[in-house]
Amino acid sequence: MSTSVIPVITIDGPTASGKGTVAHLLAERLGFHYLDSGALYRLTALTAMRRQVDLGDEHALSKLARDLPCHFAGEEILLGQENVAPLIRAEEVGNTASKIAALPSVRQALYSLQLGFRKTPGLVADGRDMGTVIFPHATLKVFLTASVQARAERRYKQLIDKGFSANIENLLKDLEARDARDTGRAIAPLKPAPDAHILDTSDMTAAQALAKVLEWYGALKHS
Ligand code: DC
Repeated sequence: MSTSVIPVITIDGPTASGKGTVAHLLAERLGFHYLDSGALYRLTALTAMRRQVDLGDEHALSKLARDLPCHFAGEEILLGQENVAPLIRAEEVGNTASKIAALPSVRQALYSLQLGFRKTPGLVADGRDMGTVIFPHATLKVFLTASVQARAERRYKQLIDKGFSANIENLLKDLEARDARDTGRAIAPLKPAPDAHILDTSDMTAAQALAKVLEWYGALKHS
Protein backbone atom coordinates (compact mmCIF):
# COMPACT_ATOMS: atom_id res chain seq x y z
CA MET A 1 0.00 0.00 0.00
CA SER A 2 1.33 3.46 -0.84
CA THR A 3 2.08 5.28 2.42
CA SER A 4 0.22 8.38 1.21
CA VAL A 5 -3.12 6.59 1.66
CA ILE A 6 -2.40 5.49 5.22
CA PRO A 7 -4.31 7.85 7.55
CA VAL A 8 -2.29 10.15 9.79
CA ILE A 9 -3.64 12.27 12.62
CA THR A 10 -1.21 14.92 13.84
CA ILE A 11 -1.41 16.33 17.36
CA ASP A 12 0.87 19.33 17.84
CA GLY A 13 1.15 21.75 20.71
CA PRO A 14 3.41 23.20 23.39
CA THR A 15 4.95 21.33 26.30
CA ALA A 16 2.41 19.85 28.74
CA SER A 17 -0.59 20.84 26.59
CA GLY A 18 -1.88 17.31 27.06
CA LYS A 19 -0.95 16.22 23.54
CA GLY A 20 1.00 13.14 24.67
CA THR A 21 -1.91 11.81 26.71
CA VAL A 22 -4.51 12.59 24.06
CA ALA A 23 -2.38 11.19 21.22
CA HIS A 24 -1.69 8.02 23.16
CA LEU A 25 -5.38 7.45 23.99
CA LEU A 26 -6.38 8.23 20.41
CA ALA A 27 -3.89 5.73 18.96
CA GLU A 28 -5.14 3.11 21.39
CA ARG A 29 -8.78 3.80 20.55
CA LEU A 30 -8.23 3.64 16.78
CA GLY A 31 -5.69 0.79 16.90
CA PHE A 32 -3.17 3.09 15.16
CA HIS A 33 0.59 3.31 15.58
CA TYR A 34 1.91 6.13 17.72
CA LEU A 35 4.85 8.45 17.08
CA ASP A 36 6.10 10.44 20.08
CA SER A 37 8.43 12.69 18.08
CA GLY A 38 9.52 14.60 21.19
CA ALA A 39 11.02 11.33 22.46
CA LEU A 40 13.41 11.32 19.48
CA TYR A 41 14.70 14.79 20.42
CA ARG A 42 14.87 13.70 24.06
CA LEU A 43 16.82 10.53 23.15
CA THR A 44 19.28 12.62 21.15
CA ALA A 45 19.58 15.02 24.10
CA LEU A 46 20.15 12.22 26.61
CA THR A 47 22.85 10.67 24.42
CA ALA A 48 24.55 14.04 23.97
CA MET A 49 24.45 14.69 27.73
CA ARG A 50 25.91 11.29 28.53
CA ARG A 51 28.69 11.70 25.98
CA GLN A 52 29.26 15.31 27.03
CA VAL A 53 28.84 16.52 23.47
CA ASP A 54 29.07 20.32 23.19
CA LEU A 55 25.56 21.68 22.45
CA GLY A 56 27.18 24.05 19.95
CA ASP A 57 28.59 21.15 17.92
CA GLU A 58 25.80 20.77 15.36
CA HIS A 59 27.71 18.25 13.27
CA ALA A 60 28.29 15.86 16.22
CA LEU A 61 24.68 16.26 17.41
CA SER A 62 23.20 15.51 14.00
CA LYS A 63 25.40 12.43 13.74
CA LEU A 64 24.04 11.24 17.11
CA ALA A 65 20.48 11.81 15.89
CA ARG A 66 21.11 9.97 12.61
CA ASP A 67 22.61 6.94 14.39
CA LEU A 68 20.18 6.76 17.33
CA PRO A 69 19.91 3.06 18.27
CA CYS A 70 16.31 3.51 19.43
CA HIS A 71 13.36 1.19 19.48
CA PHE A 72 9.81 1.72 20.74
CA ALA A 73 8.12 -1.30 22.33
CA GLY A 74 4.80 -0.52 24.04
CA GLU A 75 5.59 1.67 27.05
CA GLU A 76 9.32 1.03 26.71
CA ILE A 77 11.69 3.35 24.84
CA LEU A 78 14.92 1.49 24.24
CA LEU A 79 18.27 3.09 23.62
CA GLY A 80 20.34 0.09 22.66
CA GLN A 81 19.20 -2.49 25.23
CA GLU A 82 18.36 0.06 27.95
CA ASN A 83 14.80 1.21 28.68
CA VAL A 84 15.20 4.98 29.08
CA ALA A 85 11.46 5.85 29.00
CA PRO A 86 11.41 7.26 32.57
CA LEU A 87 14.85 8.93 32.25
CA ILE A 88 14.06 11.00 29.16
CA ARG A 89 11.11 12.66 30.95
CA ALA A 90 13.45 14.60 33.27
CA GLU A 91 13.18 18.38 32.86
CA GLU A 92 16.89 18.72 32.14
CA VAL A 93 16.57 16.31 29.21
CA GLY A 94 13.50 18.20 27.92
CA ASN A 95 15.32 21.53 28.10
CA THR A 96 18.36 20.14 26.28
CA ALA A 97 16.02 18.57 23.69
CA SER A 98 14.42 21.97 23.09
CA LYS A 99 17.88 23.51 22.51
CA ILE A 100 19.12 20.90 20.06
CA ALA A 101 15.74 20.84 18.28
CA ALA A 102 16.55 24.33 16.98
CA LEU A 103 19.44 22.93 14.91
CA PRO A 104 18.45 22.32 11.26
CA SER A 105 20.73 19.33 10.72
CA VAL A 106 19.41 17.58 13.83
CA ARG A 107 15.85 18.02 12.53
CA GLN A 108 16.93 16.79 9.11
CA ALA A 109 18.61 13.74 10.66
CA LEU A 110 15.35 12.74 12.35
CA TYR A 111 13.14 13.41 9.33
CA SER A 112 13.05 10.00 7.59
CA LEU A 113 12.97 8.14 10.89
CA GLN A 114 9.66 9.93 11.61
CA LEU A 115 8.18 9.24 8.16
CA GLY A 116 8.88 5.54 8.74
CA PHE A 117 6.25 5.41 11.50
CA ARG A 118 3.48 5.77 8.91
CA LYS A 119 2.27 2.19 8.69
CA THR A 120 -1.10 0.50 8.28
CA PRO A 121 -3.69 0.80 9.67
CA GLY A 122 -2.73 4.40 10.56
CA LEU A 123 -0.63 6.73 12.67
CA VAL A 124 -1.15 9.26 15.41
CA ALA A 125 1.88 11.58 15.46
CA ASP A 126 2.54 13.93 18.36
CA GLY A 127 5.00 16.83 18.38
CA ARG A 128 5.56 20.43 17.33
CA ASP A 129 5.81 20.24 13.53
CA MET A 130 3.86 17.07 12.69
CA GLY A 131 1.14 18.91 10.77
CA THR A 132 3.36 21.67 9.35
CA VAL A 133 6.55 19.85 8.24
CA ILE A 134 6.59 16.07 8.70
CA PHE A 135 3.04 15.16 7.60
CA PRO A 136 1.75 18.27 5.77
CA HIS A 137 -0.92 16.16 4.04
CA ALA A 138 -2.22 14.51 7.22
CA THR A 139 -5.82 13.34 7.27
CA LEU A 140 -6.62 15.36 10.40
CA LYS A 141 -4.50 18.01 12.12
CA VAL A 142 -5.08 19.06 15.71
CA PHE A 143 -3.27 21.77 17.66
CA LEU A 144 -3.71 21.59 21.43
CA THR A 145 -3.13 24.62 23.62
CA ALA A 146 -3.57 25.34 27.32
CA SER A 147 -2.69 28.27 29.56
CA VAL A 148 0.86 28.27 30.89
CA GLN A 149 -0.50 27.96 34.47
CA ALA A 150 -2.59 24.87 33.58
CA ARG A 151 0.41 23.34 31.81
CA ALA A 152 2.77 24.01 34.72
CA GLU A 153 0.31 22.33 37.09
CA ARG A 154 0.01 19.31 34.80
CA ARG A 155 3.76 19.01 34.39
CA TYR A 156 4.19 19.30 38.17
CA LYS A 157 1.78 16.43 38.73
CA GLN A 158 3.41 14.28 36.00
CA LEU A 159 6.88 14.78 37.47
CA ILE A 160 5.78 14.06 41.05
CA ASP A 161 3.89 10.94 39.88
CA LYS A 162 7.07 9.74 38.15
CA GLY A 163 9.11 10.24 41.32
CA PHE A 164 11.00 13.38 40.19
CA SER A 165 11.18 16.42 42.48
CA ALA A 166 9.60 19.61 41.13
CA ASN A 167 8.93 23.23 41.98
CA ILE A 168 5.99 24.97 40.34
CA GLU A 169 7.67 28.41 40.06
CA ASN A 170 10.71 26.91 38.31
CA LEU A 171 8.44 24.88 36.06
CA LEU A 172 6.56 28.01 35.00
CA LYS A 173 9.83 29.73 34.12
CA ASP A 174 11.10 26.66 32.25
CA LEU A 175 7.85 26.32 30.30
CA GLU A 176 7.91 29.97 29.27
CA ALA A 177 11.55 29.71 28.17
CA ARG A 178 10.87 26.51 26.26
CA ASP A 179 7.75 27.96 24.60
CA ALA A 180 9.77 30.99 23.50
CA ARG A 181 12.52 28.77 22.06
CA ASP A 182 10.15 26.29 20.35
CA THR A 183 7.98 29.09 18.92
CA GLY A 184 10.74 31.51 18.01
CA ARG A 185 13.19 29.21 16.24
CA ALA A 186 13.82 29.77 12.55
CA ILE A 187 13.23 26.18 11.46
CA ALA A 188 9.96 24.26 11.99
CA PRO A 189 8.73 26.56 14.78
CA LEU A 190 5.84 25.52 16.96
CA LYS A 191 2.71 26.88 15.27
CA PRO A 192 -0.61 25.50 14.13
CA ALA A 193 -0.88 24.42 10.49
CA PRO A 194 -3.35 26.69 8.66
CA ASP A 195 -5.76 23.76 8.36
CA ALA A 196 -5.40 22.55 11.99
CA HIS A 197 -8.31 22.29 14.42
CA ILE A 198 -7.37 24.25 17.54
CA LEU A 199 -8.40 22.96 20.96
CA ASP A 200 -7.77 24.79 24.24
CA THR A 201 -7.57 22.07 26.89
CA SER A 202 -7.02 24.37 29.94
CA ASP A 203 -10.37 23.38 31.43
CA MET A 204 -10.76 19.97 29.81
CA THR A 205 -9.96 16.46 30.96
CA ALA A 206 -7.98 14.20 28.65
CA ALA A 207 -11.19 12.19 28.05
CA GLN A 208 -13.04 15.33 26.91
CA ALA A 209 -10.21 16.33 24.57
CA LEU A 210 -10.10 12.80 23.16
CA ALA A 211 -13.87 12.86 22.54
CA LYS A 212 -13.53 16.13 20.60
CA VAL A 213 -10.73 14.77 18.38
CA LEU A 214 -12.68 11.56 17.74
CA GLU A 215 -15.69 13.69 16.78
CA TRP A 216 -13.56 15.63 14.23
CA TYR A 217 -12.11 12.41 12.85
CA GLY A 218 -15.55 10.76 12.64
CA ALA A 219 -16.95 13.82 10.83
CA LEU A 220 -14.15 13.58 8.24
CA LYS A 221 -14.83 9.94 7.57
CA HIS A 222 -18.50 10.65 6.97
CA SER A 223 -18.01 13.76 4.83
O1 DC B 1 7.08 17.04 23.35
P1 DC B 1 8.33 17.00 24.24
O2 DC B 1 8.23 17.89 25.45
O3 DC B 1 8.72 15.60 24.59
O4 DC B 1 9.51 17.59 23.31
C1 DC B 1 10.78 17.89 23.82
C2 DC B 1 11.43 18.97 22.98
O5 DC B 1 11.68 18.47 21.66
C3 DC B 1 10.57 20.22 22.76
O6 DC B 1 10.86 21.24 23.71
C4 DC B 1 10.90 20.68 21.38
C5 DC B 1 11.42 19.45 20.68
N1 DC B 1 10.49 18.91 19.68
C6 DC B 1 10.52 19.49 18.43
O7 DC B 1 11.22 20.47 18.22
N2 DC B 1 9.76 18.97 17.42
C7 DC B 1 8.95 17.93 17.65
N3 DC B 1 8.22 17.45 16.66
C8 DC B 1 8.89 17.35 18.94
C9 DC B 1 9.66 17.88 19.94
